[in-house]
Amino acid sequence: MRVLGLLSLAMAVCCISAKVPSIKLYTGYEMPQIGLGTWQAKGDSVRQAVKDALEIGYRHIDTAFIYGNEKEVGEGIHQQIQKGVLKREDLFITTKVWPDGCNRQKALEMIKHSLKELNVTYLDLVLVHFPHDDYANTYQGLEDAYNQKLVRSIGISNFMKSHIDHVLKTAKVKPAVNQINIHPTLNQDETVAYCNKLGIAVTGYSPLGTGSMIKDPTLTSIGAKHHKSSAQVAIRWQIERNLITIPKSVNKKYIKEDFEVFDFKLTADEIKTINNMKA
Ligand SMILES: NC(=O)c1ccc[n+]([C@@H]2O[C@H](COP(=O)([O-])OP(=O)(O)OC[C@H]3O[C@@H](n4cnc5c(N)ncnc54)[C@H](OP(=O)(O)O)[C@@H]3O)[C@@H](O)[C@H]2O)c1
Repeated sequence: MRVLGLLSLAMAVCCISAKVPSIKLYTGYEMPQIGLGTWQAKGDSVRQAVKDALEIGYRHIDTAFIYGNEKEVGEGIHQQIQKGVLKREDLFITTKVWPDGCNRQKALEMIKHSLKELNVTYLDLVLVHFPHDDYANTYQGLEDAYNQKLVRSIGISNFMKSHIDHVLKTAKVKPAVNQINIHPTLNQDETVAYCNKLGIAVTGYSPLGTGSMIKDPTLTSIGAKHHKSSAQVAIRWQIERNLITIPKSVNKKYIKEDFEVFDFKLTADEIKTINNMKA
């Protein structure tokens, strides 16, 4: 009976996950288009949010050294692996190196610290969090981790064209992903186009404008036509732009709602309206 129960749980999870499209990085790895954001989520609440997300079907978690929650994120992941909800290899984990006062050697140390906190043998993606201080040198620490197979793909975050050009002057391993702030009133068209041209995938962070988009009347009225919420419209807009998106919530109801964005499509006119939204 217990075996049957576990079997049906595994089948349900597999079916839910199969609905989630992914973006193939140039490194060959698949990155699920939706992940759970964890900024400003700590302790029991982030551990539970990660557990809820994995049960709902998320297979991508976004954290960072500076969030101070890698240990609890790792605990949430391992509790669900032990329960049979997923295997490590089914999951895509992103973390980020904090660049202030960092350098090549410190970046590698920070990655080893993240591996320990998350209690995993490899990370799927590590990013330089911001283009601060000597970020090209910090990026070389990520390349060292990549060459040592501690990390499957490496990348950058908050990098605009000039920062990308600067890092590419010395990079031996091209960034696979650039994670930047994208939401309906900040479409980042230019940087997205530049990254696309270079074969760098783009993750849009703060897809709900850190909550500020929830009450937006344009998104709410588009959502009403599809029986969806403003949050679901903002997330779907990123999916339809072939971006990766990482909404954050510690509330199970919202975590589930934010994941239910693969059963509707925005029309071309609706996408145009959202593209033209102003702050
Ligand atoms: N690379 C970077 O520099 C950088 C910077 C910022 C963020 N990020 C990443 O991007 C992730 C997401 O960005 P974010 O944390 O700024 O915020 P966000 O995802 O844009 O919005 C999160 C806020 O919206 C609320 N929310 C979520 N789903 C909702 C729903 N369906 N209905 C109503 N409210 C909802 C959340 O509430 P509750 O939490 O109370 O449930 C929270 O207050 C971060 O967590 C982090 O992983 C990266």
